[in-house]
Amino acid sequence: MIRVLGIETSCDETAASVVALDDASAPRILSNVVLSQIAEHAAFGGVVPEIAARAHVEALDGIVEAALADSGTDLRDIDAIAATAGPGLVGGLIVGLMTAKAIAAAAGKPLLAINHLEGHALTARLTDGLAFPYLLLLVSGGHTQIVRVAGVGDYRRWATTIDDALGEAFDKTAKMLGLPYPGGPNVEKAAVAGDPTRFAFPRPMKGSAQPDFSFSGLKTAVRQAAQAIAPLTEQDVADVCASFQTAVSDALADRVSRALARFKTEFPHEKQPALVVAGGVAANRMIKATLETLCDKAGFRFVAPPLKLCTDNAAMIAWAGIERLNENLEEDDAFDFVPRSRWPLDAVSAPVVGSGRRGAKA
Ligand code: KG4
Ligand code: ZN
Repeated sequence: MIRVLGIETSCDETAASVVALDDASAPRILSNVVLSQIAEHAAFGGVVPEIAARAHVEALDGIVEAALADSGTDLRDIDAIAATAGPGLVGGLIVGLMTAKAIAAAAGKPLLAINHLEGHALTARLTDGLAFPYLLLLVSGGHTQIVRVAGVGDYRRWATTIDDALGEAFDKTAKMLGLPYPGGPNVEKAAVAGDPTRFAFPRPMKGSAQPDFSFSGLKTAVRQAAQAIAPLTEQDVADVCASFQTAVSDALADRVSRALARFKTEFPHEKQPALVVAGGVAANRMIKATLETLCDKAGFRFVAPPLKLCTDNAAMIAWAGIERLNENLEEDDAFDFVPRSRWPLDAVSAPVVGSGRRGAKA
């Protein structure tokens, strides 16, 4: 039996979790405590790094205690401490990684410095026991990527955004329309009463031979449409949201279907290929339904882990720690590991010009 304590502080959730694995059964999440800081950042319309770092300092020890208590585990029974060491907001990363180093040093346990994106990438193995290889679509506030996952530590980024992340596009659209932060859920809610055909927004990159995503042109089109009909009625807002969401789903479907086709070419003998979604945008029902239909048509299994494991959490960090321990992939010098605001999952694929804000939420 392996039990790992995970710690996640890369953005605006302070989280700790204990995950266990034994030979006989599926992995078990013994506790999963997540404290969201949304209320502290809402007035600013986005995450304020300094406020986030201070909030992590205040909350983290209590969250770790709660995770241990909920799991019914004593620190003595924990085999290793895994903490997010990047990418993300560096203030928060320092708080989480230093806390993990202190706990590991005091308790005499191994430390694992985990890439947050690897946490998202391996979650479907924790929740659904998914076998390698598979495709991951990560759609969050800071990332929009398609990653080929072939093993622990074996990742290739097949597509990324050349400008805004998809969650960011939702958040900016909401802001332009006067909807509260975080934008995604509010845009989705408003869209229910809207006419998706009223505005013919662009489908960025649709049909392009280049595999990447782009959302900034769509954002500009939304701004221009909103300015042209200002002041906006409630119905106008609903129509913009519905038209935006439809454009986004359509653009996403085009990009993802290319990746599914590539996967089939690269893994022709894979009997049950799978697409996994992760990130907060995976909560969107229209996007989820679009991806499900796409997978059905392409003969892919569609895996959408429960939402609280799709968004930022520490269970995925603890699980990535277990996967690394099992493969003997722990860093030799984790105690010397310096948090990284940028840390691509795939060191091979070249960075795309314009993509990824420094320290963006992952
Ligand atoms: O994964 P997440 O909680 O945090 C990270 O970015 O890591 O994702 C947050 C993002 C925000 O941009 C939020 O607006 C978006 O996910 N989001 C949604 C929905 N719920 C959250 N976007 C579209 N529709 C939703 N229902
Ligand atoms: Zn994340």
